[in-house]
Amino acid sequence: MYVITTPVAMSAWSDAHRVAGRRVVLVPTMGALHEGHLALVDEARRHADVVALSIFVNPLQFNRPDDFTAYPRPIDDDLSVCRSHGVDAVYVPTAADMYPAGFETHVEPGALANILEGAQRPGHFRGVTTVVAKLFGAARPHVAVFGQKDFQQLAIIQRMTIDLDMGIEIIGMPTVREADGLALSSRNRRLTSAQRTAATCVPRALDRIAEACSAGERDTDRLIELARSVVDAEPLARFEHLEIVHPDTLQSLDTITDRAVAVTAVWFDEVRLIDNQVLSV
Ligand code: PAJ
Repeated sequence: MYVITTPVAMSAWSDAHRVAGRRVVLVPTMGALHEGHLALVDEARRHADVVALSIFVNPLQFNRPDDFTAYPRPIDDDLSVCRSHGVDAVYVPTAADMYPAGFETHVEPGALANILEGAQRPGHFRGVTTVVAKLFGAARPHVAVFGQKDFQQLAIIQRMTIDLDMGIEIIGMPTVREADGLALSSRNRRLTSAQRTAATCVPRALDRIAEACSAGERDTDRLIELARSVVDAEPLARFEHLEIVHPDTLQSLDTITDRAVAVTAVWFDEVRLIDNQVLSV
């Protein structure tokens, strides 16, 4: 497995494979790898001949310095997980490689980035689109794989690759969960054991919506109220937002008529967890 640290070396690795006629896939991550990331790697392998995974905790997308500092960085564990999972190259640039002195160009996402997560975390998605564009520029993949756990991120990146004619196929993968329903996340490591137990209220709240929706409830205010009562019943949880939106436009719905997705963010002390669930009608 190659461990590559500079954009120039990353492009050279990718170009060599492209010239030899091989398909290159990239799985962008911020590390602290878990089974959710590895599911993306497994899917990546099905779409290409060589798999690259990037690990970079991107300062541009953190709107809280404490969250950036506290973000886990178990790089040795991550590299050995990649090695045993058949990743061909890991791209681990430093912040100085990514944002050297004089760096000043950003990718500005549109309206999709100003709502939901974007409204709560100003500048977050601009940081994501900028870093993903740079990772694509260095790794030059044919395909890239992202998780539906970050539903809005996936939609924004799909939009970016179309709008900027990047010609990269974007694949979205379903969320991998713990046995009790909690979505795997690098941030789960920061929960105390009491908070970890309490955190199941997030998938339970989304399940409550899905059940009521399959039972015929279509009014989103009533569905949101049901879910909110699940989170509010948990003393360690602090409700931030829950909305039911159209999966393509991400616009809030009053009534569910066909496709919809419930998206939420809940705090456990300083740790913010996000999750979502697609609702079938
Ligand atoms: P990170 O949070 O490390 O996630 C990397 C990828 O793994 C994302 O596409 C995310 O949606 C996916 N993922 C995370 N948890 C998952 C789960 N439980 N099941 C399935 N997929 C999951 O998202 C980022 O990093 C960054 O914003 C990044 C795109 C790398 C840009 O910095």
